[in-house]
Amino acid sequence: MIDLRSDTVTRPTPAMREAMANAEVGDDVYGEDPTINRLQDRCAELFGVDATLFVPSGTMANQICLHVLTDPGDEVILDRSSHVFNYESGASGMISGVQLNPIDTSDGRLSTDDVEAAIRPDMPVYARSRVVSIENTANKAGGVVYDLNRIHDIAAVVRAHRLRFHLDGARLWNASVALDVPVHSLVKPFDIAWAAFSKGIGAPVGSIIAGSQDLINAARTVRKQLGGGMRQSGVLAAAALVGLDGYRERLARDHANARRIADTVSDLDAFDLDLERVQTNIIIFDVHDGTAESVIEKLARHDVHVTPFGPQTVRITLHRDISDADVNATMDALKAEFA
Ligand SMILES: Cc1ncc(COP(=O)(O)O)c(C=O)c1O
Repeated sequence: MIDLRSDTVTRPTPAMREAMANAEVGDDVYGEDPTINRLQDRCAELFGVDATLFVPSGTMANQICLHVLTDPGDEVILDRSSHVFNYESGASGMISGVQLNPIDTSDGRLSTDDVEAAIRPDMPVYARSRVVSIENTANKAGGVVYDLNRIHDIAAVVRAHRLRFHLDGARLWNASVALDVPVHSLVKPFDIAWAAFSKGIGAPVGSIIAGSQDLINAARTVRKQLGGGMRQSGVLAAAALVGLDGYRERLARDHANARRIADTVSDLDAFDLDLERVQTNIIIFDVHDGTAESVIEKLARHDVHVTPFGPQTVRITLHRDISDADVNATMDALKAEFA
């Protein structure tokens, strides 16, 4: 099976399983798990921050971040296509009592104008604008990247209005590789940021939140309140540590393979794809005549599995478990069915 539905479908590699089996562990709720501490220290250095915190999932990372940045009744400005707005089961309202202000953007990325226009006047009738949240890369926009200039420009608006800046970095590693800049440069403008191990890195479980010592102390409390304080979780951190080794070369390969498949899709009259938006490991394209479901069905005959992203929209996602041979087979399947 060539599973291109998501980069979350990867299986732990033999090296990860071995590291998991041999991981030194302790009780992480007491801060005593040496492998968790090793991962957190390594990430603090990579992210250029005071402190980091391992959490079970990206959704929990987003929700912890928003909770430590807001008070109930505050408003969070974000893109309408964001994960926080679309795919977190209304958690921000339930957990933090915040209101989301989803912005329609031209390309799935907020601009300074978008942010300026969304910030509410300081008057009692309005919710208090408190956080600007962005995704890098922006998944639903096709894995597009916010470059450093755009991030710094938005950060300047955020600071001028005394708001806070949050980064959903589920695919931050991909952004860093695509831009060829260090991870810490993409994190620095934010108050709080996180990145996933269970997507491009290929580990089975976990994300890491990064920020100041004060915010991470607060985040540790919220993690416990949400039931995310784990005990001998070094077995999970061990896999993430293995995944970090050599990740830049592997993600560069995923990006190049995405580009190869995108070129094939773009050559086919059946589909509409903006190649400019294929910047990382995700390809999102529209189907001219027919439905996403029909494309999924036809590709499945070749054991190539992709995912619907709307009635006439399909997403293909490259990841660690997709070989160059799988990429060739996917291009052949596309040509066989749609040329
Ligand atoms: C951009 C983005 N943010 C957050 C998440 C949530 O991560 P998790 O599935 O680990 O909860 C995802 C998951 O795919 C994502 O794509």
